[in-house]
Amino acid sequence: MTHIGIFFGTDTGRTRLIAKQIAKKLRNTADTPINIGRTTVTDFLAYDALIVGSPTLGDGMLPGKSTGLSQPSWEEFLPQLAEADLHGKSIAIFGFGDQKKYPNEFVDAIGLLHDVFVARRARVVGRWPTSGYDFTSSQAVDGDEFLGLALDRHHQPALSEERIDTWLAQIKPELLP
Ligand SMILES: Cc1cc2nc3c(=O)[nH]c(=O)nc-3n(C[C@H](O)[C@H](O)[C@H](O)COP(=O)(O)O)c2cc1C
Repeated sequence: MTHIGIFFGTDTGRTRLIAKQIAKKLRNTADTPINIGRTTVTDFLAYDALIVGSPTLGDGMLPGKSTGLSQPSWEEFLPQLAEADLHGKSIAIFGFGDQKKYPNEFVDAIGLLHDVFVARRARVVGRWPTSGYDFTSSQAVDGDEFLGLALDRHHQPALSEERIDTWLAQIKPELLP
């Protein structure tokens, strides 16, 4: 497929809103965002370029039954990729977190998703500088970069839009060369 597929997990709906905002900004190059708990591996694998989003819940966990969700989410979807080969696919990850309340697990979900996709041989694009954030540790960090776009609607809501625009400009040529 020549379109970008957008898949998200969510608890209270903010990640879905951002996914929709990203789709709108990408206009006709992206398809309508899909809740990862309501899709199939076949539909996910239909895309060679993907943007995926997730909040971090629990203490540094992906959303799913273990974090109290009544619907399946990333926790239930990822094991279904165990046999999948993602070679040739490019994936950009964005994540929501709270750097003040969870300074030791800030946007961990980005790192958890990254590791699964890389283990399945995908190319993960869209790293983002850690400067401008205030946290202690995160599974989403490599050196001085996050492994995807980190957003914090609790403490830096005014920065999100500009961060998204800059990040999209960066990843677009990598997702659709
Ligand atoms: C129970 C709970 C646990 C959370 N745990 C973390 C965490 O470990 N790390 C983090 O960065 N943010 C954490 N957060 C903050 C959420 O990621 C943040 O509120 C996010 O915007 C929720 O997105 P959603 O509306 O798509 O569910 C937690 C929030 C809740 C309610």
